[in-house]
Amino acid sequence: MAEKVEIKYEGQSFELPIIEGSENEKAIDIAKLRAETGLVTLDFGYKNTGSTISKITYLDGENGILRYRGYNIDELAEKASFLEIAFLLIYGYLPKEGEFNEWANEIKHHTLIHEDFRKIFEGFPSNAHPMGVLSSMVTSLTAFYPESLDPNRSMDEVKMSIIRLIAKLPTMAAWSYKNEKGHPLTYPNNKLDYVDNFLHMMFALPTDDYKVDPVVSKALNKLLILHADHEQNCSASTVRLVGSSHASLYVSISAGINALWGPLHGGANQAVIEMLEAIKADGGDTEKFIAKAKDKEDPFRLMGFGHRVYKNFDPRARILKSAADDVLKAMGVNDPVLEIAKKLEQHALEDEYFVKRKLYPNVDFYSGIIYRALGIPTEMFTVMFALGRLPGWIAQWLENRQNNEPIGRPRQIYTGEKSRDYVPMEKR
Ligand code: CMC
Repeated sequence: MAEKVEIKYEGQSFELPIIEGSENEKAIDIAKLRAETGLVTLDFGYKNTGSTISKITYLDGENGILRYRGYNIDELAEKASFLEIAFLLIYGYLPKEGEFNEWANEIKHHTLIHEDFRKIFEGFPSNAHPMGVLSSMVTSLTAFYPESLDPNRSMDEVKMSIIRLIAKLPTMAAWSYKNEKGHPLTYPNNKLDYVDNFLHMMFALPTDDYKVDPVVSKALNKLLILHADHEQNCSASTVRLVGSSHASLYVSISAGINALWGPLHGGANQAVIEMLEAIKADGGDTEKFIAKAKDKEDPFRLMGFGHRVYKNFDPRARILKSAADDVLKAMGVNDPVLEIAKKLEQHALEDEYFVKRKLYPNVDFYSGIIYRALGIPTEMFTVMFALGRLPGWIAQWLENRQNNEPIGRPRQIYTGEKSRDYVPMEKR
């Protein structure tokens, strides 16, 4: 017999069904709660609230497991290409060779952006943060492809928007960096694969030959895969919520980029390097900063530490910690902040405050050190996260639309003033 929970309220008893996922996670289905009891639930930050059922990504925070469509992240990060993972996340299966080649070629075919985008780039001040530029550019796609605004578009048309987004985001990201640097824009080179093409657009200059270093390319491919999806996090939930109003894919993704920007989410990767640099400049006393993070009177938090879901370890952080060692060694880079990061981690993991609260390094703790070794500037770190997360956001948006989920619209408990009369200004 199907499991149920019983709620007793005002002398009456109500039964609510339990639903179970394929990995035996269970939830109380409260769809009829308000209609039957008059009650709503209250859950700040959605700490206990499932907002959807999903087939995309499985995350077990207690055991540090992360799988895309059933495949373990460790194996994917080691063996797959980023575009292959993008296909897997969006369409649910690993593409066969012919299918993959068609997908990759189509993406190559759409890497150019309309020349009028150059004028938009020129309109930004050179010190504009590339995340703001990126989200504006993605929204601007609606102006160039207005048909994307039609909520009743066919799946083939939606697929074209998906291809365009995946193809154009690296061009926009690299150009937002070039704009900030005041360097000439580099056009995509379709002889290169996805990751190498991005590096080419970032670092090639008309004055010199640029050859992509395979160590850099491999490391970036791994980083992008590790960031590609993370189920119902802040930005993915934003994308789904915006999409649930039948807003277009482009504007939903743009909203996701903005949600990612915050320092508690993807913006943490930039904040981590800034924190490590500040510790270095202060003399490298990691224990002093551990004490600051523990002090409730001090707003300082250990950036790159803690996670809403992982309560044992973040599998992405483990992979990146060893990747940081490998990449820095292969590139002959000696970055003193890597040592500071390791010392900080070691102290935190031995400290009662962090142990009790189950706070461990997250994906952002070591990723910035690798980005920096690859030559990517700090203000671009969160843009790199966005490039990686794009397929996940697309998959989440598509699933929401294909399941025909209702518009997202939470309830609240009102605690403001009760009804009162308007007071004319002269009598206030
Ligand atoms: N440094 C110091 N104390 C912390 C930290 C930290 N980084 N993270 C959490 N705590 C404390 C927090 O003060 C609270 O203590 P108490 O129980 O005494 O009030 C307890 O741990 C629980 O924290 P919370 O803020 O209630 O947990 P949350 O699930 O709401 O927040 C988090 C999760 C990731 C926002 C938070 O851990 C944090 O701010 N970390 C630093 C920012 C960061 O690294 N973000 C990247 C997250 S991973 C990338 C991504 O996918 O976004």
